[in-house]
Amino acid sequence: MGEIRLQIDGNEVEASEGMTVLEAATAAGIFIPTLCHHAKLEPYGGCRICTVEVESRGRTNLVAACLYPVEKDLVVRTRSAKVDKIRKMILELLLAHAPESPKLLALAEAYHADKNRFEKESSFCIHCGLCVRYCAEVKQKDAIGFVDRGARREISFDPEIALAECWKCKECFPLCPTSALQAAYVLTLALASPFASSGELPETIDS
Ligand code: SF4
Ligand code: FES
Repeated sequence: MGEIRLQIDGNEVEASEGMTVLEAATAAGIFIPTLCHHAKLEPYGGCRICTVEVESRGRTNLVAACLYPVEKDLVVRTRSAKVDKIRKMILELLLAHAPESPKLLALAEAYHADKNRFEKESSFCIHCGLCVRYCAEVKQKDAIGFVDRGARREISFDPEIALAECWKCKECFPLCPTSALQAAYVLTLALASPFASSGELPETIDS
């Protein structure tokens, strides 16, 4: 650490070449909200809730902190009127899909986001991709994938892999910012399990 000095929210911060603004801020104890970021996964840049304002060589830009690399003398503002406005809008859009998500509701309070601003389209999945990427990149099982496109895009378990692998893993469950993932898994098991026809479910879906 220590090759690059930058400023985050007025604090002098040291970071290494190749780190992102999010990593530098986190290492310095400065909070930036995230929804699609996971330290073990490749950067994704899907949710944009980590948007921050950066100032470099006289230019100010809004960037995703989880993707943007640190650079010498960069000035970062993790909160500003523009940043807060973007985060508020993102949260209001996401809350239309997952109005009961505790993580979204906590952020909504912080950014004064109105969960009823947009018409509800409760799909519960906010397409953060954490489950899909974690299963592929960390577990290398590919038990979950996205199906369909656009607003109809949703996650789906491969029933065969789910039956063989997921019951002993479930590491993706706590990553999901909504209840979509666990519900999809339970449904998959219910439909795919040989117990389904008998009306009984295996004990492995208990958590
Ligand atoms: S099911 Fe949950 S973890 Fe998976 S993409 Fe949707 S919101 Fe993200
Ligand atoms: S956390 Fe950066 S785009 Fe999602």
